[in-house]
Amino acid sequence: MMLHSSVALGVVAFVAGGLLLARSRMRRRTAASDARRAQREAADEEWVIRPVENAPVTLASFYAVDHDEIDRLLEDFRTAKAGDGPVALAMYREFTSRLERHIGWEEDILFPLFERLSGLRDNGPTVVMRSEHRTIKTLLDSIDTTLQKGDVSIDADESALLAALAAHNMKEENILYPLIDRQVSADDREAVFARMRAETA
Ligand SMILES: [Fe+2]
Ligand SMILES: [Fe+2]
Repeated sequence: MMLHSSVALGVVAFVAGGLLLARSRMRRRTAASDARRAQREAADEEWVIRPVENAPVTLASFYAVDHDEIDRLLEDFRTAKAGDGPVALAMYREFTSRLERHIGWEEDILFPLFERLSGLRDNGPTVVMRSEHRTIKTLLDSIDTTLQKGDVSIDADESALLAALAAHNMKEENILYPLIDRQVSADDREAVFARMRAETA
């Protein structure tokens, strides 16, 4: 009962408080993102699952770093999009491939674990997150279709995507991931990382 009350409060905060925090979160993220980028660039080029340095290996910390890396790929594409068309398209697809992998981990592994632990399958925060994933994927496909024609007039879709990702990631990082971390055992957490590795291999 205590767990369900706690989860219910989390869901209310999740829906009501989300957008209000997005703007300040974006500003804080810039400095944190720069630090993480320097850390990442000093690391091995090959992707590995790794924790934030000097922090516990939590699901929240891993997934927040992955958000930042995906954001960086989107920034790189936006910088390059006015230049060589095929290069920009390749950069865009690198970004989408990483984002789709991330969404796949969430929908196939992380969210089902939360739904099992909390009992919230049809009316909890993962329902909202899955719906937002569908919106994000629609925007990704629309941008890809435009770029494939050699056209870079994607401003409207791009703005909508940036807004959707910022709000979505903020809710996951501030509410959903910590909620999951509070409920999982160390074994559960290791199992999540093991399944992610297996799905990526
Ligand atoms: Fe997500
Ligand atoms: Fe995410």
